Amino acid sequence: MAEQKTTTEQPAPATDAPSTSAAAAATTPAEPSTSTAPAEPAEPAAASTTGVLPAEYWTSQAPPGVTEDADSSLGTDVESSTASITSSILEYRTLYGRTYHSAHSNAQYWASNDERQSEANDMLHHNLTLQLDGKLHLAPIKKDIKKAIDIGTGTGIWAIDFADEFPDTQVIGTDISPIQPSWVPPNLKFEIEDFTQPWTFADNSVDYVHMRWLVGSVKDWNELFKEAYRIVKPGGYIESYEPDAFMISDDGTVKETDAIAQWGRIFAEGGKKLGQTFTVYTDELQRKGMEAAGFVDIQQHELKTPIGPWPKDERLNEIGRFSQMVLDQDAEGYILFIANTLGWTREEILVYLAMLRREIRSAKHHAYYLQRVVWARKPENDS
Ligand SMILES: C[S@@+](CC[C@H](N)C(=O)[O-])C[C@H]1O[C@@H](n2cnc3c(N)ncnc32)[C@H](O)[C@@H]1O
Repeated sequence: MAEQKTTTEQPAPATDAPSTSAAAAATTPAEPSTSTAPAEPAEPAAASTTGVLPAEYWTSQAPPGVTEDADSSLGTDVESSTASITSSILEYRTLYGRTYHSAHSNAQYWASNDERQSEANDMLHHNLTLQLDGKLHLAPIKKDIKKAIDIGTGTGIWAIDFADEFPDTQVIGTDISPIQPSWVPPNLKFEIEDFTQPWTFADNSVDYVHMRWLVGSVKDWNELFKEAYRIVKPGGYIESYEPDAFMISDDGTVKETDAIAQWGRIFAEGGKKLGQTFTVYTDELQRKGMEAAGFVDIQQHELKTPIGPWPKDERLNEIGRFSQMVLDQDAEGYILFIANTLGWTREEILVYLAMLRREIRSAKHHAYYLQRVVWARKPENDS
């Protein structure tokens, strides 16, 4: 049985009032309406068994002015990256003007891969490193490791920083979308590879495998960690970072029917439809997958990330403002595909997002989300 240790970083909740249950459902039904400006807030519309309010709830709740707010988030110009390149991996899917990874791939990825979304992901990286006091890894890897792989590297921002910090290590970042920059450290390269297919790296060839924010992209987490186990050298490390999709509060300021609370429910429900779960954190799939693959000395670190400018503590306030910036930058690029999968119209999605932005900016909702870093070692005697 693998040894397991846990450490937790606490962002100091504002009060000690009872916690908002992430699983509880809103139950009071209301008449659905297509009106965008009711005089009085209606009772919550009937929620599904998973607590997701129906899409029309948001258009029926929107106060005057919110539709303009929603419209203002429309139509950021998306650069046409396909203009001069004909490779099929660049033939992106589009949804309401946003681009998604290649239509020719078996993999199904839910977030946009355009510039606006990439910037949000880079902001997330900065926010996380701020929380980790600048650390890029928690696994006890040595400075002289030969080879490190970043699975689902995205814009490659972590891999670039890691390659700078480990100049003698060959670093490879893989992804299905070719959205990485070409000016990178000499010891870093990017490869197009679908992590749901058998990996192209040789058995026992890698000192360290890093994977971050693959939530909602994986059909079989055990299989993913099995592949990682295969390529890691005996004595080498795996490290995985995954957030909870639910935004909650400790003091009851996030209510079940708030747009903030609905975010996680929408993703959980959408993930079920896609067959790619968003409850990786709750279901502890990182630890379970590592254990099943054969990794040992499993350790984990919990992070509690505030959202919005509500924390009194200066450092947490900065982190909260960063989290808000990420959502201001591109909440749409995260939720559009998933809400569309649930049958929401674009208007419903935009009104919901406008309500979400209002709540977060108000600083009245002491929201945060949890995130877990799990790392483990392949036994020295297994090759
Ligand atoms: C939320 S982003 C995280 C990016 C990066 N790991 C980071 O932490 O900045 C998830 C990334 O996983 C990639 N991805 C999703 N499904 C994939 C698959 N089947 N194979 C390879 N990459 C995939 C997406 O293209 C996207 O770049």
